Amino acid sequence: MQIGFATEPYSELRADALITYVFDTENKFDGALADINREMNGRLESLAASGELTGKPLEFVLVHFPQGLSAQRLLLVGAGEPAKFSAADLRKIAGAALRYLKPRGVKKTIFLAREGEGGPDAAQAVVEGIVLGDFESDKYRSEKKNQEIESVSLAGFDAGRGGDLISAAEQGRIIAESQNFARDLINEPANRLTPRMLAARAEAMARDAGLSVEILDERKIAELKMGALIGVAQGSIEPPRMIVLRYTPKNPRPGGPVLGLVGKAVTFDTGGISIKPANNMEKMKYDMGGGATMLGAMRALAALKPSIPVMAVIPATENMPGGRAQKPGDVQVAMSGKTIEVINTDAEGRLILADGIFYARKLGCTHLIDAATLTGAIEVALSNVNVGAFGTPREYLDQFLASAKAVGEKMWPMPIDDEYEEMIKSNIADIRNTGSGKGGGAITAAWFLKEFTDDTPWIHLDIAATCWVDEGRAWLAKGPTGVAIRSIIDFAMKM
Ligand code: BES
Ligand code: ZN
Ligand code: ZN
Repeated sequence: MQIGFATEPYSELRADALITYVFDTENKFDGALADINREMNGRLESLAASGELTGKPLEFVLVHFPQGLSAQRLLLVGAGEPAKFSAADLRKIAGAALRYLKPRGVKKTIFLAREGEGGPDAAQAVVEGIVLGDFESDKYRSEKKNQEIESVSLAGFDAGRGGDLISAAEQGRIIAESQNFARDLINEPANRLTPRMLAARAEAMARDAGLSVEILDERKIAELKMGALIGVAQGSIEPPRMIVLRYTPKNPRPGGPVLGLVGKAVTFDTGGISIKPANNMEKMKYDMGGGATMLGAMRALAALKPSIPVMAVIPATENMPGGRAQKPGDVQVAMSGKTIEVINTDAEGRLILADGIFYARKLGCTHLIDAATLTGAIEVALSNVNVGAFGTPREYLDQFLASAKAVGEKMWPMPIDDEYEEMIKSNIADIRNTGSGKGGGAITAAWFLKEFTDDTPWIHLDIAATCWVDEGRAWLAKGPTGVAIRSIIDFAMKM
């Protein structure tokens, strides 16, 4: 899809549709909408009077052959209250408009920014919305559902800020395409994305993006004594991989921070011997969502070039109940030397992350973020609205939450008090891999991970309920969301 800035007046641009948005206070129209209303002999006013055009969030009004415009259609998207309006709303409006127009055979479109909203941040948000809205899960469909939108011309932006606008749009494109890169991986069925295939995809991406890459195979993993990862992988005929990607800035500050991104990549989670019920088990192909998140973030960072080194460490494995599978009650020795009693083989994510987190620290990471489809319990706590965000120290978590807010990703801080640590004490080993108390499953899982951070500043994102949505939203297709990628990118750029 072509995205570019238009220099001609919007009313003269030929297109299949011109998209713009309307606030809920606009019973009298302002600016461009006032002009359009006038050209249309007050048609917009009549639509408002009849109650069809109210400006409530994400309401669509499609006008065919609008008088005074060279475009064939005018799509008005509700924008809600102007006082609450933010870049996050603009991102949603752009995505929702694109998704609305796609099945209607529209090819060439114009997006008209409203008065006072034509700056670089707005341009970035619109481009992100468009690229994210364009995502389709149709790789394995013989007949594609929708035709492609060919182009979006951005109109109404501050012509005086040409260079800034172009680089903001370019950044938006990189970020959203990286998010879509992760969404494509998350969509892949487990037979088409084994740990070895994921490693190959990571390697190819790293080569294209200019990142350095190292893939540890099962021999190297054994040599390094990654016992927790091996324990999970031993139930499968597919060997595990530890994927390491590195971004190094031109002039890294000696002794400065090194950010480590650790992502859970269980390419299929059957539960192992503690096997899951058949219902919905097919969804466990997305149990590598945390790893895909980190690959997406690295892909963008390679282009955006933060000033600090960033590393991704991604343990990849299947969790299968094969003849050699670990059994409930088994004790594994993690790479750190800590012993783990495996109470439930379905709590495998924390096991592989234990070795991922320890290895990232060994490689020199001074700050950590992990992302994982870790627990069903996070859905009980927060539903599919907020990512569960844990972390210590609190200031580090707060900084991350500020990034999440800035990029329009909903995340909620979760507690990690010392009292929960009691619940992962084992009778025979250092720790057990499930909580012994009632409830708090997402928190005891986080505590398990914390045991391997050795007080390195650390953020843990439980994306089990938000990495995939069963029902699409107006601006986002159903399926993989790519959540957390934008926050991680923003955070790394600000670090
Ligand atoms: N991959 C699952 C968590 C999950 C559940 C992700 C639903 C996405 C949707 C994880 O490995 C798991 O099975 N966790 C168990 C832990 C329990 C055995 C302590 C869970 O949450 O039930
Ligand atoms: Zn599991
Ligand atoms: Zn899992």
